[in-house]
Amino acid sequence: MTKICCIGAGYVGGPTMAMIAKKCPDVQVTVVDINAKRIAAWQSDTLPIYEPGLDEVVKEARGRNLFFSTDVDQGIRDADIVFVSVNTPTKTFGEGAGCASDLQYWELCARRIKEVSTTDKIIVEKSTLPVRTAEAMDRVLHSGQKSVHFEVLSNPEFLAEGTAVADLENPDRVLIGGHETPSGQKALKTLVDIYATWIPRDRILTANVWSAELSKLTANAFLAQRVSSINAISALCEATEADVAEISRAIGTDSRIGSKFLKASIGFGGSCFKKDILNLVYLCESYGLQAPADYWRQVVLMNEYQELRFVKTMLRNMFNTIAGKRVAVFGFAFKADTGDTRESPAIRVCRALADDHAKVVVTDPKAIENAKIEMPDLLDRIEFEKDPYKAAAGAHAIALLTEWKEYKTLDYQRIFDSMAKPAFIFDGRNMLDHKALFEIGFEVYSIGKGLRTHLK
Ligand code: UDX
Ligand code: ADP
Repeated sequence: MTKICCIGAGYVGGPTMAMIAKKCPDVQVTVVDINAKRIAAWQSDTLPIYEPGLDEVVKEARGRNLFFSTDVDQGIRDADIVFVSVNTPTKTFGEGAGCASDLQYWELCARRIKEVSTTDKIIVEKSTLPVRTAEAMDRVLHSGQKSVHFEVLSNPEFLAEGTAVADLENPDRVLIGGHETPSGQKALKTLVDIYATWIPRDRILTANVWSAELSKLTANAFLAQRVSSINAISALCEATEADVAEISRAIGTDSRIGSKFLKASIGFGGSCFKKDILNLVYLCESYGLQAPADYWRQVVLMNEYQELRFVKTMLRNMFNTIAGKRVAVFGFAFKADTGDTRESPAIRVCRALADDHAKVVVTDPKAIENAKIEMPDLLDRIEFEKDPYKAAAGAHAIALLTEWKEYKTLDYQRIFDSMAKPAFIFDGRNMLDHKALFEIGFEVYSIGKGLRTHLK
């Protein structure tokens, strides 16, 4: 029986391993993590992350061929294949701070693997890492005296949160990078065969290690760039009375452009986009490629502009003062169908509102606990309320920041009646029925369309 160990039981490692275990009952999968609380949650009925459909996948395989453990060393020792799926946040200190990835967790893993292994292993890079990390991994693993051989593969994960189960079950493609040596190709084939259990072979792409690593950064940079591009146009729309949704539809029907990732918003969030672009920027700069570095950095700057533009628009329309006014924030997760709040635009928006002395009330169906963790310094100034009706009661404004579908079907007449007047609604996701809201009496602002007002 092939034995897989995955180091890191997070948003990537947990769902990916659960899917492999579900699809390959004859492969034993053990997910290990140093975070005992997280492992306990994976073993319980309340998984540590919210992801539609994940409970069923985990329940089917857990205890059969899917295990969760804090015994990292044992997991590594027993495995034929070790996936490394630990966090690689942007460095906050030293050389490359604010840009490069912090590789300390990843390097600790490499050292641990080297230390405890007694048999040959395939090591699979799953975490998004700077290009040429596999090479560094190779060097760490093969330093000093040891007869064990490690073959490093890069297998970047393309799943998006909120749709992780569907993305894993039916991916556009799986990408695996391996060395062009006989042992590299053999390892590559081993991993291809595992994925081929449920994914058509023509969707399993192989490449050299560096291409695989750089493909991941490039894919995320291109996706984020589309969001920044449409957001740049949204600002122009508001200045010219064009409607960004109409523009998205018009350009999205061009098959060369395609219709996805053209939704104007308060900005992109999530653990990947910003981090990966900054990684790309750092890479370009370290090779002396300043113009490409500046080009990609602009995607992040545009995103920050969009977040702050939203707050400034709120402030301007609310008569240039929000001090003391209750503002209900609808949605804190960085996108719908996840409880994840990493890099959520809501963080910056809430901070800016609180800085202007608004009384911020955050509501979200899944992300309130994470929201508290994101803003530890503001806990005495920000209120958290699960019920959107209670959050909105007495508020001067609603800022809708996450496109949870339940926000579409709230009773907005009831909400309007409970709010201070004039009652503003700022739709940062362009998802509500603006005409209906306006008819109820709201002052309605939406991204890329501007404000509909009763006040003249
Ligand atoms: C992304 C990539 O899609 C995935 O392939 C990679 O593995 C990890 O990074 P994720 O961050 O989970 O996935 O979510 P994604 O759906 O890409 O959305 C990212 C952000 O962009 C969200 O904040 C989302 O709201 C925003 N977005 C997306 C828009 O504002 N407009 C769009 O049209 C699309
Ligand atoms: P991602 O979104 O990439 O999956 P997460 O932060 O959700 O990132 O998960 C990464 C996990 O890796 C965390 O649960 C963390 O505890 C774990 N981790 C980090 N370093 C180590 C390590 N040296 N050994 C085992 N687990 C680790």
